[in-house]
Amino acid sequence: MLNLHKMPEFTFPENFLWGSGSAAHQIEGNNVNNQWWHMEQSGNNPSIHAPSGKACNSWQMLDDDIRLLKELGHQAYRFSVEWSRIEPRHGEYDQAALDRYIGFLQKLRANGIHTSVTLLHFTHPQWFEELGGFTKEENIRYFTGFLTFAVPQLAPYTDSWTVVNEINLGSTAFDALVKRKVLLKAFAYGSAVVKSFSAAPVSAAHALIPCYPLRVHDPLDTAAAHLNNWVTNEYFFHGVRTGEIILPQMDVEYVPELKNSCDFWAVNYYHRRKVDARKANMAADKMYFNNFRMCLDYPADREFCPEVFVDAMAKLTDKPIWITENGVCTDTDEFRTIYLMLQLEAMRTAMELYSADIRAYFHWSLLDNYEWGTYDMRFGLASVDKKTFVRTPKPSAYFYKDVIRANGMSGELFAKHTPALPHFEMMDMTQPKKQLSQETQA
Ligand code: BGC
Repeated sequence: MLNLHKMPEFTFPENFLWGSGSAAHQIEGNNVNNQWWHMEQSGNNPSIHAPSGKACNSWQMLDDDIRLLKELGHQAYRFSVEWSRIEPRHGEYDQAALDRYIGFLQKLRANGIHTSVTLLHFTHPQWFEELGGFTKEENIRYFTGFLTFAVPQLAPYTDSWTVVNEINLGSTAFDALVKRKVLLKAFAYGSAVVKSFSAAPVSAAHALIPCYPLRVHDPLDTAAAHLNNWVTNEYFFHGVRTGEIILPQMDVEYVPELKNSCDFWAVNYYHRRKVDARKANMAADKMYFNNFRMCLDYPADREFCPEVFVDAMAKLTDKPIWITENGVCTDTDEFRTIYLMLQLEAMRTAMELYSADIRAYFHWSLLDNYEWGTYDMRFGLASVDKKTFVRTPKPSAYFYKDVIRANGMSGELFAKHTPALPHFEMMDMTQPKKQLSQETQA
């Protein structure tokens, strides 16, 4: 059995970057011009239980966020700029909004914090939505138009870019695949724009969700898992490596701008997916195994599986890897510390076993924020008071702070932060199995 209290000391490479992340709509508040806000107000979407409202009020509290990052020892911060603030109406740019982001970047830099900017994190202007958003290829020019305006002004203060966040989500239905293709092309052309103004490294944050058959020997589950793996993960990595977009039911397409568009693999890792070919949505719900659930306090079937992360890293050794998101949704904060330790151990294993070149880790999330339809799912290292918006770090934030300070982890460090957990002895594999053989003889 894995004993985290006995983990050997491990130091991450020199210059390893430690930080956390957020996204505009999830923290800023009052993002009234994007499609999500409109969807929240319409009341038409049953998966939206609460509107975003003031979120964490970060638009008014940028300095508080910087203070928190400093207090917690973070060396890097990944956040997104909100397109709908900068271009609230097509072709009408709000320079003051852009200047506010620039001021934030300057302050982060002045505090010695690496600035990592995401240019599209799930939200876009309502006017763009009304034109069909990313369901139509001809709309990509609106996105690149926005980038051409914003990127040259942000570039002097930006240390790394994720042009788009998690464009690989969605079902295997034809419409969802078409959208994925449009988004991949938007990334390709967008990254070319970014590279024309900035020498900082560029990537697309990929939601890495390895897909496995529910019944390993079942031909249909196996085929469905392959299909899901391709349309969720492999089409993206293949596209960036070769420039080819290969998706089911579509002719293959070669997009030169896509080839080598990523300078590093930006991996958002939360969970694996078990695929059940006997269900319409192919999502397995028989998941009561020994792996942790990513959403501990909610019925979501997201199973955190550190070994799967290790295996996935083995396929990404052709570029440096940044873990741009990883975290857990729980109200039992001690579990966040356990989860984090397991993830660090998985990173160590991937680095040692496969020479995975992992160079950065951004915990999701700095704050308990708006989790796309609810405030009840809390991923934050710090809680946020609903009325005053005061930020209060949780104990797990101090475990992470110690990890950052040590640029490493160890059983001892973990034990310091989990005094209430039972400590058990790990079997020493190097010693002869005395007791076992005595028992066997008896
Ligand atoms: C998204 C975040 C989200 C997180 C937790 C990621 O897929 O990028 O916006 O909050 O997962 O669900």
